[in-house]
Amino acid sequence: MPVKVLFVCLGNICRSPAAEGAFTKLIQDEGLMDEFEIDSCGTGSWHVGELPHTTTRKVAKDYGIDLTHRARQFRGLPDIEYYDYILAMDHSNYGDVVAQASPEEREKIFLFRDFEKEDSKNSYGKGEAVPDPYYGGMNGFVLVQETVMKASTGLLNYIKNTGQLKGINKG
Ligand code: 4NP
Repeated sequence: MPVKVLFVCLGNICRSPAAEGAFTKLIQDEGLMDEFEIDSCGTGSWHVGELPHTTTRKVAKDYGIDLTHRARQFRGLPDIEYYDYILAMDHSNYGDVVAQASPEEREKIFLFRDFEKEDSKNSYGKGEAVPDPYYGGMNGFVLVQETVMKASTGLLNYIKNTGQLKGINKG
């Protein structure tokens, strides 16, 4: 059974497709594609069916990541029941997802940046949002890309440590 991971933002054209692409690249690089099923979605419906934002795609491409995801809206309970890890990009997305989940299901819903911690001395990102780049310039999109790559590494390490992956021992 693959580990099922869903990234959630508002429009599903900037942050969550960037996160999906970064996490997918990471597991491809580690030869773990068979171990995961990955998707992204938005709590809003404005961009359903669209490719990611032009700048999101351009920045991802600079990091060797091709974004071909088509935006879809968060489905509520069916998505919550189906996925093992639901990663919200900001507090508003987190609140929207958590509001539809039972207390047990809430345990699989996280702020994505909670996984950004880089080493044992310093913790970065805990409790923080991936800032929405939609109304800003290029720098915001680059910041999103770098943030989602760091958080992806942290998330993969976390999942490895749970012992959920075939052939990878806990610890
Ligand atoms: P995202 O960015 O949630 O990172 O995809 C946004 C995209 C579109 C809108 C807002 C945020 N919008 O209002 O259409």
